[in-house]
Amino acid sequence: MGSVLARQLSKRNEVRIGSRSLDRAIAAAAKIRGTKGGVDRDVAAWCDTAVLSVPFYAIGILIGFTRPLSGKLVISAVNPIVREGDLFQYALADRSAAELVASALPLSRVATAFNNVPAAFLRKSTGQRLDILVAADSKRTYEEAAVLVRSIPGLRPLYVGPLSQAQSVERLTVMVLNAAKLGGRSDILVRFVSSGRKQA
Ligand SMILES: NC(=O)c1ccc[n+]([C@@H]2O[C@H](COP(=O)([O-])OP(=O)(O)OC[C@H]3O[C@@H](n4cnc5c(N)ncnc54)[C@H](OP(=O)(O)O)[C@@H]3O)[C@@H](O)[C@H]2O)c1
Repeated sequence: MGSVLARQLSKRNEVRIGSRSLDRAIAAAAKIRGTKGGVDRDVAAWCDTAVLSVPFYAIGILIGFTRPLSGKLVISAVNPIVREGDLFQYALADRSAAELVASALPLSRVATAFNNVPAAFLRKSTGQRLDILVAADSKRTYEEAAVLVRSIPGLRPLYVGPLSQAQSVERLTVMVLNAAKLGGRSDILVRFVSSGRKQA
């Protein structure tokens, strides 16, 4: 997901790819023209916006990133998902991954976005319209995240409210994964359509 986002974002933004391994970061960046790679901490210190795309169990790495990400926008694409038998399950009880990210980074502005868009869709996308649900505690943080979302051709941000709503956004991914698995439809995603009704 990180590489796909980096490729799409690099069309209109200066992008660096972070990794725990410098070699992996350089290798990933070499595949995407105009990007550079670096270890996570250096990239966090360099950026003005960080997009976090790691497995849920890995968000503990954020301890130690409070300073490098201080005062910056951090967008979480993380979905807390575990596999239990044939089903995917939401891995948290009462909070969302985005709220845990916000707790770990008290000096950053945190939003959630990109949670429901499959990497495979973004990889192939040639500007196809898709709404991206964004949760953030302030409208200002949402607007900042929205600029980044809009910088990927075809993507449109849709504000769903504060981070307390992020769990619904993340849970939607679990539902889609189960629908895809149970229905044998690996190609599905959530798309919002206009009801055609004029706004009151
Ligand atoms: N794949 C999708 O279609 C998709 C779509 C929407 C959202 N998401 C969400 O995006 C996140 C990443 O998904 P993904 O499919 O890209 O996962 P992934 O390929 O398994 O992991 C992404 C990167 O996370 C880093 N990582 C893995 N384990 C780590 C650990 N223990 N500590 C620190 N970093 C670790 C690795 O980078 P380094 O080894 O280079 O450090 C790895 O390349 C997930 O939370 C997922 O729910 C995924």
